[in-house]
Amino acid sequence: MSVDPTSTTPIDQLSLNGAVEKAQFSQRVLIRSILGRPDGGARLAGQVVQIGGWVKTGREQGKGSFAFLEINDGSCPANLQVMVDSDVHKLVDLVPTGTCVHVEGQLKEPPEGTKQKIELRVQKVLDVGTVDAAKYPLPKTKLTLEFLRDVVHLRSRTNTISAVARIRNALAYATHTFFQKHGFLYVHTPIITTSDCEGAGEMFQVTTLISDAEKLEKDLKENPAPSEADVKAAELLVKEKGDAVAQLKSARASKAEISAAVAVLTKAKENLAKVQERFRLGERCRLGAGLPKKDGKIDYSEDFFARQAFLTVSGQLQVETYACALSSVYTFGPTFRAEQSHTSRHLAEFWMVEPEIAFADLQDNMNCAEAYVKFLCQWLLDYCFDDMEFMAKFIDKTCIDRLRMVASSNFYRISYTEAVSILEEASKERKFDNKVEWGIDLASEHERYLTEEKFKAPVIVYNYPKGIKAFYMKLNEDKKTVAAMDVLVPKVGELVGGSQREENYEILRSRILEMDLPLEPYEWYLDLRRYGTVKHSGFGLGFERMILFATGIENIRDVIPFPRYPGRADL
Ligand code: 4AD
Ligand code: MG
Repeated sequence: MSVDPTSTTPIDQLSLNGAVEKAQFSQRVLIRSILGRPDGGARLAGQVVQIGGWVKTGREQGKGSFAFLEINDGSCPANLQVMVDSDVHKLVDLVPTGTCVHVEGQLKEPPEGTKQKIELRVQKVLDVGTVDAAKYPLPKTKLTLEFLRDVVHLRSRTNTISAVARIRNALAYATHTFFQKHGFLYVHTPIITTSDCEGAGEMFQVTTLISDAEKLEKDLKENPAPSEADVKAAELLVKEKGDAVAQLKSARASKAEISAAVAVLTKAKENLAKVQERFRLGERCRLGAGLPKKDGKIDYSEDFFARQAFLTVSGQLQVETYACALSSVYTFGPTFRAEQSHTSRHLAEFWMVEPEIAFADLQDNMNCAEAYVKFLCQWLLDYCFDDMEFMAKFIDKTCIDRLRMVASSNFYRISYTEAVSILEEASKERKFDNKVEWGIDLASEHERYLTEEKFKAPVIVYNYPKGIKAFYMKLNEDKKTVAAMDVLVPKVGELVGGSQREENYEILRSRILEMDLPLEPYEWYLDLRRYGTVKHSGFGLGFERMILFATGIENIRDVIPFPRYPGRADL
């Protein structure tokens, strides 16, 4: 049973005869607290409890004199069987799948020969959220994960998606536990950034220029922009009113007369400023669909941040600023990539765990990645076993064995050059779609061959050719490779990507230029090398890829609550 690791009373330590533990901040009892006990809840018979949840299946029996409901409240994969008599509540309102019920009743041992160890006999129905069965978007038949992507707002009611949610939650908790236990500080890196971490140009732009332009166009439709003649007329008015003030002054008119004329002049000037501004906006709209332009290019000085800004592709560069002051840090947050990847391993919005360690080299980095991934696997075996059993039964028979294997065995470590030799050797006997030669970026089929067929275990490939990796990776002495490392795992391929960072100012600077990147946005990053530079390393683990690996689910769109990919961003 999944146990909340924060609970002060782990289920196996609860007195089997004591009163069942209530949910926090609610009068009900979690179904997990009943069914998750080693006795399956049997010794709770006789206790009166409130439970709440959604009906998985409901059926009227005994010619409509009572009904059985299978209730799930999301606290565990198992359902509690609930029996309601027709004199307690109208049964037709309770049995449709998806109905929400909040009931009070007595726990009872079911008749011999039934699967359940305990069931609830309802005494009072406290609340019902009814469902029109004919309209409910989740019919009771077995639904494919693909179908459920069209009902993202209700799919958390299904067994698979709720199990994934609990596994995801457990992995997040495990992540913080691992890094906190090892003395890492959690740093929140920005989501909006002006630096392209991977230098790959796959960033989503953040701008208010487009909505501003739309507003402007609408506004100008309602109140047309002034013409050049209108501007001239407004200018003329200012001149006239100015002359009038001058005349009054030279004629030594009274103070009151002069200030009245000055007030009129001020109004005329304000009007002119308004007419000129609206004329400028009208021109902008006419010339460039409302976007501000300068020298033929979009003028970002008029944008929200007065410069171009993007959604981050990785928190690494920013987290390095904290590593170079606080030593061991990590960031864990959403990252965004505007790549047109329609694969089952890519999302446009995904979560990444990125530790960064000062005074650490590539070996230390690999040791950290390996320890972290093993820790995650062991955590799921310890705290999410019931959900893993569900996955093994319905999604991937091998998933529990895979977690055990990874948690207990060492990862293979091979250099990129060795990996290429292995792949070249393999291509004599089998065909890869992508040609293998030193210098290529390993394709998913190559990565999966190495980890699934050759080693049948996680493999760390290190020292990649510099041409295929990001500018910040440390150049090795051979000047051809960089101190990069990728952790490859069965089912997924690349799970982790990381490196030792280039800490030498001159080399880093020339790597930026070599990659045709502009220096200006990276000046602050170069400062970390200009002032008190330190050897340091880090990596990024794709959180959804970890869930794919753990559960065996095939498509990454099914392991994030609200998937974003080309053409889709529901809710
Ligand atoms: O290898 P990547 O691109 O590395 C970085 O972003 C580094 N800045 C990390 C660091 O050193 N701090 O991405 C890291 C991991 C990949 O190994 C992969 O698991 C995952 O992020 N990833 C994706 N996951 C889902 N959808 C995508 N489009 C992904 N792109 C990368
Ligand atoms: Mg990578």
